[in-house]
Amino acid sequence: MQLFHTLRELRAFLDSRSDQRVGFVPTMGNLHAGHCQLVTLAKSHADLVVVSIFVNPLQFGANEDFGSYPRTLESDCEKLQSVGADVVFAPAVEEIYPDFDGRDLHQQIVIQPPPLADDLCGASRPGHFAGVATVVAKLFNMVKPQVAVFGKKDYQQLMVIRALVRQLNFDIEIIAGDTVREPSGLAMSSRNGYLTAAEKSQASQLQQQLLSMKNALLGGRRDYAELCEQASLQLKQQGWQVDYVEIRRQHALTLPNAQTRDWVILAAARLGKTRLIDNCEVSM
Ligand code: PAF
Repeated sequence: MQLFHTLRELRAFLDSRSDQRVGFVPTMGNLHAGHCQLVTLAKSHADLVVVSIFVNPLQFGANEDFGSYPRTLESDCEKLQSVGADVVFAPAVEEIYPDFDGRDLHQQIVIQPPPLADDLCGASRPGHFAGVATVVAKLFNMVKPQVAVFGKKDYQQLMVIRALVRQLNFDIEIIAGDTVREPSGLAMSSRNGYLTAAEKSQASQLQQQLLSMKNALLGGRRDYAELCEQASLQLKQQGWQVDYVEIRRQHALTLPNAQTRDWVILAAARLGKTRLIDNCEVSM
């Protein structure tokens, strides 16, 4: 496995493999079994898999965890080697944002995503998806993959990336990887490491709420607002600070009606200092 920190090295290597189909898995590092599964999925669609590790300052709000986000390059590389990644690209901020002067990231060209990025996580994290879309577009231009893999745990992000690829005409196939869960049902996330032991054993309550909402939809309930309100109230009673619990149409993330048969239930909530997200697709 090759580790590159500069675009020049990455390009020289990829130019020497121009006959190979490149699969790409962008990450912010602090990798877990969910990321490893995305790499395995990428390998099944490509000859050569590139994984980027870059904690992107542009997608963090001023009061978010950019500074404390775990940087664990050495152990990340061990995990990536064990699942057969071919290249790790771990650039410095200046490599991704060439005109960044160390202070004002907002002098950067930023991609403005469509309105589907404005609510749910976009409402509580203004600018987040513009930061994601911008860095992913830059990484696509650097890696030039034929296929890229994103996890379904970040469902709204996946929809923003699909819109980015469609609307900016990237010739890249986007593949979605299923969410990998702890035995308790908790969705794997780099941020789970922030949870205390007590919070971790409580954290599966988020998925349990989504599953009981799924059963309610499959059982015929269509009072969406009421279902979301009930789940949100129960989470609050269990000690969560709820950001949102929403039922939307799959893909477009618009509001469902009585005829809808493909839903996605999405939730974001804070347990102590840790903000967790999860979702559940339901079809009938
Ligand atoms: O999902 C993530 O880890 C990040 O949002 C991504 C896609 C690597 C962009 O920084």
